[in-house]
Amino acid sequence: MTTITIMPSGRTVDAAEGSTLLAAILGLDEKIQHNCDGKATCGTCHIFLLEGRKGVSKIGREENEKLDSIVGVGSKSRLACQATVLGTEDVTLEVLSFR
Ligand code: FES
Repeated sequence: MTTITIMPSGRTVDAAEGSTLLAAILGLDEKIQHNCDGKATCGTCHIFLLEGRKGVSKIGREENEKLDSIVGVGSKSRLACQATVLGTEDVTLEVLSFR
């Protein structure tokens, strides 16, 4: 299990290995846009991974291509629907879409 802390609320949730960050966020009823329902085509689930980079899967080709098309992307950017929990490190992320 990995503990995921979701900012700015600071709420936490335990996530099983293989689950997506998007599922963890939605499981807490935190608001995040996810217009394509996890297909890496909309980019609305863009988050910043603040801590625990080694605790989630690496960026794949589809995610990388979509991130390249989003304004405001930085070195901590991920698509919550594509990043899966590895179970090796706790994670802190920041939800951006409802700022
Ligand atoms: S939900 Fe569309 S890219 Fe993640």
